Amino acid sequence: KQIQWFPGHMAKTRRLIASNLSLVDAVVEIVDARSPLSSRNPEMDHLTKNKPRLVILNKSDLADDKTTQRWINYFRSEGSEAIAVDCKSGKGLKSILPVIKKSVLKELMDKRARNGMTGAAVRLMIVGIPNVGKSSIINKLAGSKRAKVEDRPGVTRTKQWVKLDDNTELLDMPGVLWPKFEDQDVAIRLAFTGAISDDILDIETLAMKLLSYLAENYPESIIERYNIDISDNETGLDLLENVGKKRGMVISGGEINTERAAITVIDEFRGGKLGRISLENPPEKEL
Ligand code: G4P
Repeated sequence: KQIQWFPGHMAKTRRLIASNLSLVDAVVEIVDARSPLSSRNPEMDHLTKNKPRLVILNKSDLADDKTTQRWINYFRSEGSEAIAVDCKSGKGLKSILPVIKKSVLKELMDKRARNGMTGAAVRLMIVGIPNVGKSSIINKLAGSKRAKVEDRPGVTRTKQWVKLDDNTELLDMPGVLWPKFEDQDVAIRLAFTGAISDDILDIETLAMKLLSYLAENYPESIIERYNIDISDNETGLDLLENVGKKRGMVISGGEINTERAAITVIDEFRGGKLGRISLENPPEKEL
């Protein structure tokens, strides 16, 4: 479900998000826990500048816990509340609304309590780039309370608010922004996770880059899965050929089918079969 972005579309999306923002009290920004900055639209900070925000690191079941915790600290140090969740097991989902009310919107809630307005609804909007799990989170939060809206192009979607609890309403239409395709490192991380189209890089190049990253940062993940040795200066191609050899992926003449090996590595990584892997570390802060 790749979305094609073009300038007119981007401008319209920006405007739509900006106008919807005026209707909500807080923004819930979903990012991929494996690559929290790369899976973010750089304009989001600016677009949502005046709204309290919760950053949700979703798919935390696929990321390395230690790194995820460092990311949570990073976002907090930048002034945004942040939590890790995973829609697969449901971990963390129950804390979303309490964190929003007790922390993200503390000021508003305190003010309402002082003015005897605790019954007033809190309104939220979910934003994020494609594939980070916005729909999964909306479905988990709203469940059967969610109205069925036709998804056909040309059918006008009127604004739908879904009640999440007694005093919380969610705009049933996430704000979808595009990722930073221009930055090569970012594009590669997004390609690893399948967030952007596989034809940005050919699959073998992608798998070689992933194997090199894993050999350096999570060597045990590929040693265990593929039963290969990793020596000091092995190239991505060496690693890919080793995987193919171990899996018996040979073409006639004994040549290794590196394309099949590449598809296997990428699929197994995306499916979490190589273990819990983070693709990006928080930027170092200057002291
Ligand atoms: P979006 O609205 O932001 O575009 O994302 P969406 O919810 O459609 O989720 C994109 C893919 O990520 C889906 O997989 C979904 O199941 C998966 N996903 C969402 N949250 C999590 C999570 O916390 N952990 C894991 N492991 N996966 C998650 P899909 O392959 O596109 O569809 P399907 O396999 O669910 O049918």
